[in-house]
Amino acid sequence: MRVEGKDYRTVWMEGSAVMTINQPMLPHRFEVVRLPTHRDTAEAIRNMVVRGAGAIGAAAGYGMAQVFIEATAEEPEHSNYVAAGYETLKNTRPTARDLFYAIDRVRSASDAVAEAEAIADEYVEAGRRIGEIGAELITDGMTVLTHCNAGWLAFVDWGSALAPIYFAHRAGRKVSVIADETRPRCQGSRLTAWELKQEGVPVKIIADNAAGLLMRRGEIDLVITGADRIAANGDVANKIGTYEKALCAKASGVPFYVAAPLSTFDLDCPDGGGIPIEQRGDEEVLYAAGMTDNGEFARVRLAPEGVEAINFAFDITLAKLIDGIITERGIIKPTADEIARIIA
Ligand code: MRU
Repeated sequence: MRVEGKDYRTVWMEGSAVMTINQPMLPHRFEVVRLPTHRDTAEAIRNMVVRGAGAIGAAAGYGMAQVFIEATAEEPEHSNYVAAGYETLKNTRPTARDLFYAIDRVRSASDAVAEAEAIADEYVEAGRRIGEIGAELITDGMTVLTHCNAGWLAFVDWGSALAPIYFAHRAGRKVSVIADETRPRCQGSRLTAWELKQEGVPVKIIADNAAGLLMRRGEIDLVITGADRIAANGDVANKIGTYEKALCAKASGVPFYVAAPLSTFDLDCPDGGGIPIEQRGDEEVLYAAGMTDNGEFARVRLAPEGVEAINFAFDITLAKLIDGIITERGIIKPTADEIARIIA
């Protein structure tokens, strides 16, 4: 990701500290944060300073490496410290499969730091392959709808859903994007729009409830979203609202694709019903936060005092609504057989 002429990864390690881009500050301020200990890294995942399945995975992998660095410094046999650190990271967010994939890999590796680096590098390569492969779906002049943020910021580099768009754009094809704003945290309007602007891809933001109308009017040619976890039968957990977009796409005959690396598949979940769905605090729905025209950060209440909210962070899109899953090994049908074949 190139920001003001400088190349960045979304998450990396400097010495024993994890470094990441402070996502809640975007698009207003580009800021890098330093997370000196695994507890800071865990807190950054919980508070969504770093967010998006691949970025969470990379950060958690580095966080687990921090646990080993700290354990060596703190106690010679270190097994209690490692077990406690593992639990701290594991209990940050429940839905993204990549978090568990990364901490398990680093925990059982002989060199924790090297393993965490390898995971981050693999995310970069997976994003690049997903971009190359998925770009084949995008022909000149297409408008692609995406939900939430599944780009550079949600990975280590390239992204999942946005990677095919970046590749098509760099290949000289005319491609434009409709970004759902993605209430309540607005990853679409804050992050996806910012990323695409950095890259020079034309983007328009729509209110979350507008996609159905645009699809009926023939103004969307293709939908690509990311995934937080994919069950063995091809059901997909992704940001709340994804399911509705898939229903609208099916009703309007618009192709609906999911982009994700193999690390996001969870064969221990037979179907979407087995995927844990994170529920977050009421305040994300009851309030909106942003920057005033005077350049000050502000939070305003949107709903009456005393009213509660329901705030599920993800939903499940049924496999039958998905035309294909773009992986680093090719585009597959969301069926148990295809998934077992590609993971084997
Ligand atoms: O709650 P978030 O912002 O971490 O959710 C992110 C998403 O749902 C993305 O679409 C998803 O991680 C897929 S892209 C890696």
